[in-house]
Amino acid sequence: MLFELFELKDVRHTYLRDTPFATEALRGLSLTIPEHQITALVGPTRSGKSTVVDILAGLIKAAPGTLFFRGEDVMAPSFDRERLRTSVGVVFQSPESQIFEETVGKDVSFGPLRKRASFAESRRLVQTALEDVGLLYEDFRTRYTYALSGGEKRRVAIAGVLALQPAVIIFDEPTAGLDPRGRRELLALIEHLKQTQQMTIIYASSSLEEVVGLADTIHVLDRGQLAFSGAPREILARANELVKLGIELPEAVRIALVLREHYPEFSTTVLTLDELEEAIVQHEELRIRSGGQRP
Ligand SMILES: Nc1ncnc2c1ncn2[C@@H]1O[C@H](COP(=O)(O)OP(=O)(O)OP(=O)(O)O)[C@@H](O)[C@H]1O
Ligand SMILES: [Mg+2]
Repeated sequence: MLFELFELKDVRHTYLRDTPFATEALRGLSLTIPEHQITALVGPTRSGKSTVVDILAGLIKAAPGTLFFRGEDVMAPSFDRERLRTSVGVVFQSPESQIFEETVGKDVSFGPLRKRASFAESRRLVQTALEDVGLLYEDFRTRYTYALSGGEKRRVAIAGVLALQPAVIIFDEPTAGLDPRGRRELLALIEHLKQTQQMTIIYASSSLEEVVGLADTIHVLDRGQLAFSGAPREILARANELVKLGIELPEAVRIALVLREHYPEFSTTVLTLDELEEAIVQHEELRIRSGGQRP
């Protein structure tokens, strides 16, 4: 039998249980995450994305029978927790807080050395990890971490996770606080990781815009539950529901919806502005060929 990488079944989590501040963060969440794909968790603020991330990383305990890793119940006494910890790498919501060491080289080699990699092996892992995130080893090895730009810090934090060679890497809002260029570069980097490494990538974000061009599957969260799941185009086809859930539609879709008011057959499930442009050109050609008039 083939198992999903992760399976969540009716997961519940309440923070500060039994206190006046108790918050039900997950209220019976069920979803699956397949291997070697990019799976996005999208939802407005407080919908439970970071709580799911902490559960997948083993930082918050699930209840028995609710979280399965390659078909095994993570809470079963026989389950090897260390295996989960070494398989899953997390880039947390503020990656800056993940950098501890004075220099980039020391910071990225922290994980491999702690796992008792030899000095030569650790050097190789650090070099590869830095180059995977687009930072030249010779240039960055001795740089002080406090003097890095926001985007560079994020890359170093990601390199620190890659150097541990996890099978799964989870990004929690990785572009928060970056400018549009930093954002684009980071998304390209994640796409590159998917193409070049056989990695499973989980991406939590409140921005649908950010994930539609990247994810294979999107799970939409609503107040600690699964609202619906699907491929990006299937998700975009539910524009009305997304808006009701407080999720902003991507710019290309917003423009396409306006166009549809004039041309009811115009497709609104466009993933990018480039796709929108193509759809407009095609639509125009079709109209001219069928003898349509310009408005
Ligand atoms: N450490 C905590 N202690 C108490 N309550 C918490 C804690 N972490 C999260 N919560 C609460 O749990 C709920 C879900 O929070 P979570 O951080 O998982 O949502 P999120 O979707 O990641 O939100 P955001 O987009 O703002 O990061 C929220 O109501 C939040 O206030
Ligand atoms: Mg969060």
